[in-house]
Amino acid sequence: MARRLWVNALIIVPGDKSITHRALLLGGMARGQTRLVHPLASLDARSTARALRQLGVDVPSLRVGGGPLFVTGRGRFRAPQATLHCGNSGTTARLLMGLLAAHRFAARLTGDRSLRKRPMRRITEPLTAMGARFVPEQADRLPLEVRGGRLAALRWELPVSSAQLKSAILLAGVAGGVPVAVREPAGPSRDHTERMLEALGYRLRERDGWIELAAGGPVPAFDMTVPGDPSSAAFLVGAGLLGRYPLTLGGVGLNPTRTGFLAVLRRMGATVRAEPSGATLGEPIGTIHAAPGDLRAATVSAVEIPGLIDEIPLLAVVAARAAGTSRFEEVGELRVKESDRLGLMADNLRLLGYQASGQGNTLSIAGSDHPPRGRIRTDGDHRIAMAFGVLSVVPGARITIDDRDCAAVSFPGFFELLDGVRRGRIS
Ligand code: S3P
Repeated sequence: MARRLWVNALIIVPGDKSITHRALLLGGMARGQTRLVHPLASLDARSTARALRQLGVDVPSLRVGGGPLFVTGRGRFRAPQATLHCGNSGTTARLLMGLLAAHRFAARLTGDRSLRKRPMRRITEPLTAMGARFVPEQADRLPLEVRGGRLAALRWELPVSSAQLKSAILLAGVAGGVPVAVREPAGPSRDHTERMLEALGYRLRERDGWIELAAGGPVPAFDMTVPGDPSSAAFLVGAGLLGRYPLTLGGVGLNPTRTGFLAVLRRMGATVRAEPSGATLGEPIGTIHAAPGDLRAATVSAVEIPGLIDEIPLLAVVAARAAGTSRFEEVGELRVKESDRLGLMADNLRLLGYQASGQGNTLSIAGSDHPPRGRIRTDGDHRIAMAFGVLSVVPGARITIDDRDCAAVSFPGFFELLDGVRRGRIS
């Protein structure tokens, strides 16, 4: 039944992508049955589930709106019979490499065109230092083969703040039963792996910027409700700010390493409120409320970037509607995401009539209130598609998106929901 949005409709966003990957992988490493409520059933999450099946883990297929998911692991992975295809998912490939590094067999990994272009040496280097081997040696791109074995302890300074990299090393420590320590150069990236490991009884501590994991035992099976994904919620928050109607989103993860975008939106003068309501396996959850209103430009500094790395496409389209020029500093990492997000955001915004530049490591955008019109190119990147979907809710906008289907990588049903949001009615 259709409900009028501005009268109390509460939107529940899909489960968190990062947490779903980690819960599947840790559940897959555990001996026994893990129960996940509200896991994400997107293409990326399916890539992790599929790889786990090839490694001998019992994982049913992920279905949108399905009930609890039971993952049954054997305490170790079994050697796969075929290449593990990670699809579009960098998190699947990189976190899996960490776990595979501690297994005495060879596993070959590959991915789609986008994933095969993304840098891997940042992962293979520390795992090689722990004792894993990669073929080809010094591999920086998929496909590659991991030959795991007995691992040694590691203390590693990361070249970039990256949760995927940090997590791969922590998971190698878990699977190998050895202590590891990692330090990030800039602001902290998302800490879901640390929170989950602590909740599962592993000993972690932070000292002088180092995250230290003590050697621990086997992974226990567990029970978890996956929070709604704040990165998916961010697109709906954007639609609440740029469209005609306020929106309320329930059950959203409010982990402070993920909510940097809310602080930036507040600096832009946005009406946006987050109210914590509880926690699940160490992860805070709550409600986010967003309402339309005038916006002003903001500068986002280097230290904030890791805490909102996936929200920059959304923040960029919001900046396009804010008075003044917004700047995102030190966002070079965006060039090696699912697409060159830095170049593509600037190009697409210019195409829609905005002044935008993506020179070097800075993205700057001059806001304007003209109705955006044109056809944008996604390069198959889900977040680019959804960001411009949000901009299309601006009254008078006429934006065509070359590929809307790619939203299913992280947010199945996004464009259907957005159509309802635009009309002020959801079903
Ligand atoms: C993720 C970490 C981020 C993010 C990605 C998911 C994760 O990548 O962009 O969508 O689940 O660890 P980096 O930490 O490599 O920047």
